[in-house]
Parts: sequence; structure tokens; C-alpha cells
Amino acid sequence: MPVSQDRFSVKPYEPGDAQATIDIFLGAIREVASRDYSPAGIAAWAQVEDAEIWAQYRASRPTWLAMDGSKPIGFTDLKPDGCLDMLFVSPDYQGKGVASLLLATVERTAREQGFQRIFTEASLTARPFFERNGFAVVTAQQVEKRGQILSNFLMEKTLK
Ligand SMILES: CC(C)(COP(=O)(O)OP(=O)(O)OC[C@H]1O[C@@H](n2cnc3c(N)ncnc32)[C@H](O)[C@@H]1OP(=O)(O)O)[C@@H](O)C(=O)NCCC(=O)NCCS
Repeated sequence: MPVSQDRFSVKPYEPGDAQATIDIFLGAIREVASRDYSPAGIAAWAQVEDAEIWAQYRASRPTWLAMDGSKPIGFTDLKPDGCLDMLFVSPDYQGKGVASLLLATVERTAREQGFQRIFTEASLTARPFFERNGFAVVTAQQVEKRGQILSNFLMEKTLK
């Protein structure tokens, strides 16, 4: 069921949304996460080699889009193991509560499915957002992406 706040709404992903999620993903990394990572790290992270594989991946798990009217402005997902794998908001819509709206949808769904915890691998950029929203750092980690080492944080939240 779509949910909304005053200005934005959330809807389930549909196959026609694949390119919009790619655009949001690339824009959020190149224009927002770029403040926290090296240019080489950003170049390695911000790549979608195959749009078809991306679309299959998105369709393979619950994914939601945040919308400003008919315009996609963010997306997130929830894997069957309780992992929130992706949370990206368009550069033009930062700090307006879009990610909070998406996270509320993930948490509601996770509760409905009986999860007692959800977890994520948060970027340096997203860590403060997740901490404000009740996630705690489990461990800092270094992950390899296309030959570059990027720092992130395994974080989890217990659902009450
Ligand atoms: C992290 C991200 C998803 C947050 O999206 P957003 O829509 O701007 O977040 P919201 O507007 O819902 O923020 C909610 C609260 O967190 C705060 N917040 C968000 N990002 C923050 C940051 N980097 N540092 C400190 N506070 C932050 C906001 O000020 C807001 O606080 P408030 O509710 O008290 O006003 C977004 O910055 C993003 O797309 N980053 C780049 C991509 C990325 O790193 N994604 C995560 C991959 S794991």
C-alpha cells in the first residue's frame, strides 16, 4: 500500500522504474557521497555496467521508490535476511525527509514479516542518518569495489 507524508509518497518498485533508480544511485554517489570518499573511490562505486542485471536485481526483492508527484526521487529495499541493501536520495532532494520516509516503509514491512532486527552497510555519508534513526554500528569495515578500498559501517537496529 502506498504511504505518504505531506509532500512525498512511497510506492512499490515496478519494472519501468529501473532507469530512474540507476539515475538516483549514480547521482547520489557522485554528488552527495563524493564529499566523504576519494574521486577514485567514487568512480569505482558509481558504476552500473549492465542495466538489465540491475533491473533483475531490483525486481528480485521488495524495493520502494519515493516520489515527488510522478517523479522518482529516492529508493530503498529489504532483502529476505533483513538487510536494507540500498538507500539513495536524489541530490536535489537531500535533507527533506525522503530517506526517513523510505526507512519507515522498510521498518514497517520488516515488522510485518516478523524481523527482530534489520541491518545495513552504511556509507560514511549515511552513517549519521542511520544513527539518528536508531541504528548502532556493529563494526567498521573496508570493502573492495573494482579495485578500490571503501570504508563503511555494518549497522543494525533492533525492532521493538
Ligand atoms: C544518507 C541519505 C540517504 C539521507 O537521505 P535524506 O533524504 O537526505 O535524509 P533525511 O532528509 O530523511 O534525513 C533525516 C534526518 O537525518 C539528518 N541527516 C541526514 N543525512 C545526514 C548526514 N549526512 N549528517 C548528519 N545528519 C544527516 C537530517 O538532517 C535529518 O534530520 P532531522 O530529521 O532532524 O531534520 C542521503 O544523504 C544520500 O542519498 N546519500 C548519498 C548516498 C548514500 O551514501 N547512500 C547510502 C548508501 S549505504
